Amino acid sequence: MDRANTVRNRAQRYGTTDSKQVKTTMYRSKTCGELRISNAGEQVTLAGWVQRSRKMGGMTFIDLRDRYGITQLVFNEEQDAALCAQANKLGREYVLQVKGTVSERYAKNDKMPTGDIEILVSELNVLNASLTPPFTIEEHTDGGDDLRMKYRYLDIRRENVRANLELRHKFCIAVRNFLDSKGFLEIETPVLIGSTPEGARDFIVPSRMNPGQFYALPQSPQTLKQLLMVAGIDRYFQIAKCFRDEDLRADRQPEFTQIDCEMSFVTQDDIISTFEEMAKYLFKEVRGYDLGEQPFLRLSWHEAMRRFGSDKPDMRFGMEFVELMDVLKGSGSFGVFNDAAYIGGICAEGCAHYTRKQLDQLTDFVKSPQIGAKGLVYARVGEDGSVKSSVDKFYTPEVLSQLRDTMQAKPGDLILILSGADAMKTRKQLCELRLEMGQRLGLRDKNKFSLLWVVDFPMFEWSEEEGRLLAMHHPFTAPRPQDIPMLDTDPASVLADAYDMVCNGVEVGGGSIRIHDAELQAKIFKVLGFTPERAQEQFGFLMNAFKYGAPPHGGLAYGLDRWVSLFAGLDSIRDCIAFPKNNSGRDVMLDAPSAVDPKQLDELKISLAADNE
Ligand code: AMO
Ligand code: AMP
Repeated sequence: MDRANTVRNRAQRYGTTDSKQVKTTMYRSKTCGELRISNAGEQVTLAGWVQRSRKMGGMTFIDLRDRYGITQLVFNEEQDAALCAQANKLGREYVLQVKGTVSERYAKNDKMPTGDIEILVSELNVLNASLTPPFTIEEHTDGGDDLRMKYRYLDIRRENVRANLELRHKFCIAVRNFLDSKGFLEIETPVLIGSTPEGARDFIVPSRMNPGQFYALPQSPQTLKQLLMVAGIDRYFQIAKCFRDEDLRADRQPEFTQIDCEMSFVTQDDIISTFEEMAKYLFKEVRGYDLGEQPFLRLSWHEAMRRFGSDKPDMRFGMEFVELMDVLKGSGSFGVFNDAAYIGGICAEGCAHYTRKQLDQLTDFVKSPQIGAKGLVYARVGEDGSVKSSVDKFYTPEVLSQLRDTMQAKPGDLILILSGADAMKTRKQLCELRLEMGQRLGLRDKNKFSLLWVVDFPMFEWSEEEGRLLAMHHPFTAPRPQDIPMLDTDPASVLADAYDMVCNGVEVGGGSIRIHDAELQAKIFKVLGFTPERAQEQFGFLMNAFKYGAPPHGGLAYGLDRWVSLFAGLDSIRDCIAFPKNNSGRDVMLDAPSAVDPKQLDELKISLAADNE
């Protein structure tokens, strides 16, 4: 049997496909999602929550909800006044068990899968009462974010939230099936480990048995998976919780999940082809989306920055940057451009009709503190090809025509230009403007997916704050073999054997070929400004292991939360996490973090600084 078939069969066996027997219990014979007209006349027992109830004349209708759907219950005063009176007392979210007969509905509802039938209830059993919920448990709820998070267990009763968790489950099953079919072993690594100084800030955990000493929670299982390669495991994966104490954004949580993978005896191409195949498999199996046979585009980091101002470009649309230094610097009297280290433009097709107000909005957008540009220059291309710009008085019509031609702008297009003294910063600002225009023009369709690899990252980046080079990926990443000699002469120009997978402007995964040679690793630590003693103290466990026959190895980690939220079309990864943290890193439902009992601190030999007590 071919591999793909094996994988598909397994997915069917263990997947979320309905198996009715599984859901039948002593409390119910059917679920609230499965009854159809073909069940008419059957006696059934259902259990679930009261979604809503309506009284119409002598009839009471209740929508009963469980994980699988909603079924309408009917109580008829004429037939059983006592039962109907009991039903009229039920509030939202009461938990019920009902017995009754499936019956064809008089007024069918084709919006509900169970809309052809209703249950004529003969027996009602209230399993539990409920307080009135603080918001409505419906797709478009009236609950604000904080309230929904505080009562997340009620929020998850909403179909759209639950559907995200179901998708996440399906995704994990598909991940396991695929990686298992490729010979990867799922191995758990510890969560209480040692602090590693590179990367984001660690969450640390005090040790009672070792007073004054701390564990750290893993930012990723990076070093452990490399030790598993030294151990001969060859192919490892783990659906791993990672912890990073960093500022939060829509696609970042302090606690998130990686699909962490590592392989031995591989090159960058081996890893790229394995994980590209996995991406195609996941898209097809879980999202029903065909990414096609073509290999993904590979862009070097430098090219991605030059053409899109980002190491995670959104390739669902064009609007590439055009550098305009040759055209606009020194060719007129506009001081802003004459002083610039970078001038770049994008061409918004068909937007020449933008009003003054719209252009002012765009200028305010680029000047907002998050983006930080100083201003925005625009040029409209008229139907006759003439150019009208906000800098007309500084340039001759010839220069402006040259601008139009360099931008390849057509009649009706709008050219938007940013400049700045710091080329990298200006490119990033232009990137934000490009994304904003893409959004305004409806080019960022959530049902369209465009994937690529960004490769050849710089090995190091300069940190103003620390006054030294930092590893751009992590310090275990190998330089490209041809760049190794430059480590001594020009480390800042060395490129890494590293790659990121990007989908729709989101970094969905990243990895590298690792250093497996203790000497090369020591050299990298030296470039990073570690003394040999400090490197030994902090990474000795890894460098020593490398002295016992480390195989060439490399790997990658996918961000599971980001994948699922892309598949579900969510704006934030929070919506596919059962119990997420808010933007201040708090779990408002558990009210964590919180103060601890002074006795606990005493046991840990920890005293708080006075202003925190
Ligand atoms: P990296 O730091 O790039 O690599 O992380 C891998 C992937 O994890 C996801 N991710 C996050 N998702 C949600 N919230 C966060 N705070 C967050 N941070 C990262 C991203 C990212 O691409 N050990 C290496 C991998 C390797 O080299 O094999 C690592 O952790 O999708
Ligand atoms: P100013 O010199 O600040 O009065 O700006 C003159 C014009 O240039 C205004 O339309 C600004 O929006 C625009 N402008 C200023 N700085 C920049 C910049 N860095 N890039 C693009 N346009 C700019």
